[in-house]
Amino acid sequence: MPTYYIKTYGCQMNAHESEKLAGLLESGGYSAVSDMADADVIVFNTCCVRESAETHILGNLGIVKKLKEKRPSLKVAVCGCMTQANGAAERLKKRCPFLDIIIGTHNVYRLLDYLEYVKTGGKVVDITDDNGEVTEGIPVKRLNPSSALVNIMYGCDNFCSYCIVPYVRGRERSRAPSAVLNDVKSLVERGYKEIMLLGQNVNSYRSGDVDFAKLLDMLSDIDGEFWIKFMTSHPKDISESVVKIISEKPRLAHFIHLPVQSGSDRILGLMNRKYTKSDYLDKIDMIKRYLPDVSLSCDVMVGFPTETEEDFAETLDVVNRVGYSNLFSFIYSVRSGTPAADMEQVPLEIKKDRIDRLIKAQFEIASRLAKENLGKIYRVLCDGEENGKYVGKTQTDKKVLFVAENHPVGKFVDVKITETANSKLYGIEIR
Ligand code: SAH
Ligand code: SF4
Ligand code: F3S
Repeated sequence: MPTYYIKTYGCQMNAHESEKLAGLLESGGYSAVSDMADADVIVFNTCCVRESAETHILGNLGIVKKLKEKRPSLKVAVCGCMTQANGAAERLKKRCPFLDIIIGTHNVYRLLDYLEYVKTGGKVVDITDDNGEVTEGIPVKRLNPSSALVNIMYGCDNFCSYCIVPYVRGRERSRAPSAVLNDVKSLVERGYKEIMLLGQNVNSYRSGDVDFAKLLDMLSDIDGEFWIKFMTSHPKDISESVVKIISEKPRLAHFIHLPVQSGSDRILGLMNRKYTKSDYLDKIDMIKRYLPDVSLSCDVMVGFPTETEEDFAETLDVVNRVGYSNLFSFIYSVRSGTPAADMEQVPLEIKKDRIDRLIKAQFEIASRLAKENLGKIYRVLCDGEENGKYVGKTQTDKKVLFVAENHPVGKFVDVKITETANSKLYGIEIR
């Protein structure tokens, strides 16, 4: 049997796309190997949201070049966001002439056909614009035994001025509600306990008269023991109707990832985010009113072009006021082809100093919030083991390490929180 190895970079959308690529390859008779050096086919599913991701990928392609020199029959494919950026495929072809296949984000499901073609010695570069269609029916090989990723939409129409995603993922297109419903039903029947709905901007899901609130309503009526989470929500689009439905339907998790990016109105304007700090804080108040036990997480960027100390102080203020259980903080990275690349850049030392201060502030907040969980009992979905303990997540997406008697992986267990260390929660199973 021929073998394959997929290396995945980037967000959960990409992680899920790799599950589909694995499903496709297995339907074509390939089997997975855990070491790249043993594979007949290596696929790099790439990300280009920040420069660091690209540097990392180019470094790893260097390793593949050596493997290919030793074993010329090895086939190497690069797909994902990095290939779709303007002119990137040509640059990649020049820099890495040993690559067999370069596919953009819109034709990735042709991989099996292309592998057949390159076996005869040819090479493939296939980058096209999106045609507005959604491809259904791709087999999926799921990597997590209890939590399943499900796309509800693709693409992004927001064009935040720093972000490459709309250029590489095309315009927003939503899957038909019946397709999503069938996927979720079948996953729940097969025993999946967590459904993570995916889209760059889930709140702009729309298909006919079904909007995101309606979709959540429909999905939460499916029978079975499971919970539904989703990401990512854009603060300008998350509506009261969505939050209300979450408060009414027990299967909808009380967890919302709501990236603010910056707390400064001037920077938010330059970012083209279409909300102000007070709009954002109003949304947070609305969410906390409906869902007093909600967990909030967030993405924040420091060092966006022209960001001053005062702008950064506004970001710190949002972080302090909201109290995120999880904060993903990034140093702004220039993406050529986006409007922010031509704005006045902030020196790297200043960016580094700001991110250090942000991480320190968040560390204290998360440690304080973690302590509030002491003595509480949570239903935890166990998805594996870590450092000699079981590990899982609560419905509010809090990670818990715990001790249990019977092997609980893939199951729900009730866990009492007995200890915290920084932002980490530790507990024991309660029966
Ligand atoms: N659709 C999601 C985000 C997708 S990208 C949203 O709107 O929130 C994930 C995160 O990467 C973003 O939230 C942002 O914080 C970060 N990011 C995007 N472009 C970036 C850039 N040029 N430099 C640094 N971080 C960036
Ligand atoms: Fe990028 Fe903005 Fe779209 Fe998110 S909403 S993917 S940050 S353009
Ligand atoms: Fe995701 Fe990176 Fe693409 S964050 S959508 S894999 S550019």
